[in-house]
Amino acid sequence: MSEQNSIRDDFTLIKKGYTYFDNAATSLTPVSVIQRISDYYNCHNGNVSRGAHQLTRNASLYYQDARQKTARFIDAKEDEIIFCRNATEAINLLAQGIDWKAGDNIVTTLVEHHSNYVPWLRVRDRHQVELRIAQPNREGVFDLGDFKKAISDRTKLVTTGQVSNVLGTVNPVREIADLAHNKGAWLLVDAAQSLPHLPIDVDDLGCDFLAGSGHKMLGPTGIGFLFIKKELQYSIQPLAIGGGTIHDVARDRYDLLNSIERFEGGTPHIAGALGLAAAIDYIEKIGWDFICKKDTQLVANLEEGLKKRDYVTIYGPVENSKRVSLVSFNIENCRPHRVASLLDEMGKIMVRSGHHCALPLTKYVLNATAGTVRASLYFYNLSDEIEHFFDIIDFIHTNS
Ligand SMILES: Cc1ncc(COP(=O)(O)O)c(C=O)c1O
Repeated sequence: MSEQNSIRDDFTLIKKGYTYFDNAATSLTPVSVIQRISDYYNCHNGNVSRGAHQLTRNASLYYQDARQKTARFIDAKEDEIIFCRNATEAINLLAQGIDWKAGDNIVTTLVEHHSNYVPWLRVRDRHQVELRIAQPNREGVFDLGDFKKAISDRTKLVTTGQVSNVLGTVNPVREIADLAHNKGAWLLVDAAQSLPHLPIDVDDLGCDFLAGSGHKMLGPTGIGFLFIKKELQYSIQPLAIGGGTIHDVARDRYDLLNSIERFEGGTPHIAGALGLAAAIDYIEKIGWDFICKKDTQLVANLEEGLKKRDYVTIYGPVENSKRVSLVSFNIENCRPHRVASLLDEMGKIMVRSGHHCALPLTKYVLNATAGTVRASLYFYNLSDEIEHFFDIIDFIHTNS
């Protein structure tokens, strides 16, 4: 059996005949992740850090191990990882937790997912903070000059996605980090789309904060994390305090813990954290060489095939594109949701259609108000699946 076939056997939905091209929305879940979650409930179901019996002790050890693995995965330290529900919650934690002063400014971009855009609009409205928005060219590519112009001595935070969920473009995070730090600002990286596809080292990226979601990197839903540099932890207020966050409580005061748990109020998603650790084990077993090679090869096949079809409009860079894993496009005379429904009906092929939670980008940069179709791939996809996809979009075009 080839390596690719044995990998595909790890994913039940692939064995059920689905062609899954919606990985940027959520990835498939390998059986080892599902097994780890059910093992927790079947064998170690205790709360964490809250008692002395063996189930709670074991659950605490597994939870701690999950934090260590997540930290190691991005070359951070164990006490720099806050588990939360998803990338959206991680970004909101930061937006709510920074001590904003009137007159501060935040720099974000027009390419962001709503989860890294809307929270900053709210901060602007609540705290009289200015929001500055770096705009890319029509292909969604940035000129560093735009960031240089936007970042000033009053910039508190610069934030950007590493990989665009609509265009698959990779933003120059390291260079943006240098520009931010030169002005004394912090950098938050939204890594929801990069974590499944690129090895990440937070020191190399130069970021102060990084947000990620487990379900986009083979893990379960309901678990994500915020990396927060150790030395900045006391500058940020937790989102929720109460059980699990407390060093001491008296009648009229409380002291929060000095550890990372101060940010994780209430019982955490223990099974989710264990599932995320199993997903990281799986990615590490497959290896970045294999993942990056497959990603590059598959997205090149997809892009080349789409470019050959004159009835297709591709969004994002067309010449020498270095897309990560996905292509957004439209078919002449056929609306995106119709294309997605037909791909499902005719070929059991799952793609995303619409604005991909990135309305500022689709409205003001791509001029695609009805949205686009997005095919997003991962290492378990096959070139044959892409060929089948082309046959169906040819048929859709001919008959629309
Ligand atoms: C770039 C980017 N950021 C943030 C998010 C939000 O992720 P979640 O819904 O898991 O919080 C997504 C989800 O698609 C995304 O693509």
